Amino acid sequence: MKDISGTTRICGLIGNPVEHTKSPIIHNTLAEELGIDLCYGAFRVDDDKVEDAIKGAYALNILGMNVTVPYKSRVIASLSDIDPLAKKIGAVNTLVRTEGGFKGYNTDMPGLYRAMCYDGVDIRNEKVVILGAGGVARAVLMMLIEKGAKEIVIVNRTIEKAREIMEEAYKFADRERQSIKAVSVEEFISDASDKEYIAIQATSVGMYPNVDCSPCEDPSFYEKVKAGYDLIFNPEETLFMKMVRESGGKAYNGLKMLLYQGIIAFELWTGEKVSDDLADKILQKMKHS
Ligand code: ATR
Repeated sequence: MKDISGTTRICGLIGNPVEHTKSPIIHNTLAEELGIDLCYGAFRVDDDKVEDAIKGAYALNILGMNVTVPYKSRVIASLSDIDPLAKKIGAVNTLVRTEGGFKGYNTDMPGLYRAMCYDGVDIRNEKVVILGAGGVARAVLMMLIEKGAKEIVIVNRTIEKAREIMEEAYKFADRERQSIKAVSVEEFISDASDKEYIAIQATSVGMYPNVDCSPCEDPSFYEKVKAGYDLIFNPEETLFMKMVRESGGKAYNGLKMLLYQGIIAFELWTGEKVSDDLADKILQKMKHS
């Protein structure tokens, strides 16, 4: 147990619920390993107290906060400033103390990108298919545009929602070099070439306890996929990942994204740079927690 003193800086997570979070493992281990006098806790905040919580955290000289479900959009109204990527995505998961208030960032998508880099998966000039068209899928789409994917296909149960985020995303795309499509799964299967796509599973389908589900259970879909990312980390191997592997692709879960969103937040709060070796050490600790 860390020695907490009068100089210890406090950071924490707000959300509801927060009891199962792995974020304290990430931040308290980083602080310990890097010798930084910082302590991280989780705060469950009721729906009608979000604004009070942020105001109170600032008044209490809290260094930084993470924000989780269901408040990632709600907190934007309480910020003094917002990073352009977070603004584009419309969701903030990290608050950084600045003079006059908290500045909001989104480290989830940079976290996914850094996890992909760690795995040797480079987005630039790639063909990517996104499963889902909710808030998370929209954020993934913005990240893919920013990182230079050349073709992005959105496949969603409700095609209208896929079309909506496609139209919005086009505003940010390089129209000469990037194509974005919203299609049905059948259309994707008939048009796409085999083993050319990175697939990103951005729905909550397949999450514990509904581990026998995937948003797409047609094996033909997986023939198109050379690498698959599920943003879910519980279970460790989702049905989506299993189907990617069974058809010969590489599959990854969302644990590394979770780790890197935390690492990037920690780097923003402290100005430290976290090495891949240390990231790996924390990943092992998260796996066994
Ligand atoms: P979030 O903001 O977390 O992304 P959301 O906005 O509720 O969550 O979006 C959930 C996504 O999961 C949607 O793309 C949804 O598809 P619909 O737009 O058709 O509702 C998708 N989804 C949820 N349950 C699904 C299921 N059983 N099969 C396929 N897709 C599903």
